[in-house]
Amino acid sequence: SRAALRPCTSRHLVGRSYSSTESRPERKVAILGAAVGIGQPLALLLKLNPLISSLSLYDKANTPGVAADVSHINSRAQVARYAGEEQLVEALDGSDVVIIPARFPRKPGMTRDDLFKINAGIVKSLCTAIAKYCPNALVNMIRNPVNSTVPIAAEVFKKAGTFDERKLFGVTTLDVVRAKTFYAGKVKVLVAEVNVPVVGGRAGITILPIFSQASPKSSNLSDDDIKALTKRTRDGGTEVVEAKAGMGSATLSMAYAGVVFADACLEGVNGVPDIVECSFVQSSITDLPFFASKARLGKNGVEEVFGLGPLSDYEQHYNRVLKASSRSLKLL
Ligand code: NAI
Repeated sequence: SRAALRPCTSRHLVGRSYSSTESRPERKVAILGAAVGIGQPLALLLKLNPLISSLSLYDKANTPGVAADVSHINSRAQVARYAGEEQLVEALDGSDVVIIPARFPRKPGMTRDDLFKINAGIVKSLCTAIAKYCPNALVNMIRNPVNSTVPIAAEVFKKAGTFDERKLFGVTTLDVVRAKTFYAGKVKVLVAEVNVPVVGGRAGITILPIFSQASPKSSNLSDDDIKALTKRTRDGGTEVVEAKAGMGSATLSMAYAGVVFADACLEGVNGVPDIVECSFVQSSITDLPFFASKARLGKNGVEEVFGLGPLSDYEQHYNRVLKASSRSLKLL
């Protein structure tokens, strides 16, 4: 169907081949926050993607090493490094897709409010620059809390007069990637063939994997199995943080998810039809201004946001919880 999600496999990242007659448009992708964490593996995987002709690595500092390292890979993308605000204009200039993992980490003694203020400030200054230097780029917001950073970015773009709701995305692909992996493991099907829509938001109970719509269908999943799969998808970040035991959070799987989503954006921009991915976008399918659901991507970003489709009783329960909490908090 037109709303069918793409199975995400390595085909979308590295294995694509071109015939000599196939055109390869020039496409620039910028990573803001490229020096460590998610940024490094993201740079590596993007360098392998033949849709990209120019890869711009920007951070406050420390981009030269990552850029030199990644640039030695014999793939299409030309790698450029930028460090410090004075180089942001060049880093962004002409970008088709801008990916934002940039953040300030929590330091001892800082309250959550302090941290939120600093990080909201980073999102504000980066988005102000995007509005100035590449207002037509598709913005992929990875930086958490996506439920808040996306609305902040929207306000910055509105203030600058460049807001285009089709071009602002909260990246929720990691939840989709996790739901697919956990479902395939439980149902014992080939993971490459699995699709599971994940809707809602990108934190705790706002993440709602719709296992009742998963394909291939499974008739032997009990309600308890679905509850356990839903909980594991929601708690995926904690599972990684605990396993890393003080050495950080999900960076490798997030980089993979980030590249799957960026690839979908690029395919859409290149005019490939029927590219459908779940993403946290401006939406009218619930009373929340932004909501993750399936969206069709095209030359200018979002072309169509799909409704939730039929939900099981369990999923409807969570959808109601989500709506109730959204009324009291507006945005979680
Ligand atoms: P990190 O702390 O390892 O890296 C952040 C990078 O941002 C650093 O290199 C830092 O120098 C840079 N940075 C800070 N201020 C900057 C500025 N003004 N301009 C440019 N760069 C700046 O963090 P990590 O592990 O890469 O995570 C990044 C974010 O991604 C976090 O907010 C994390 O919660 C989020 N995340 C999102 C997921 C999702 O599914 N959307 C999943 C996993 C993590």
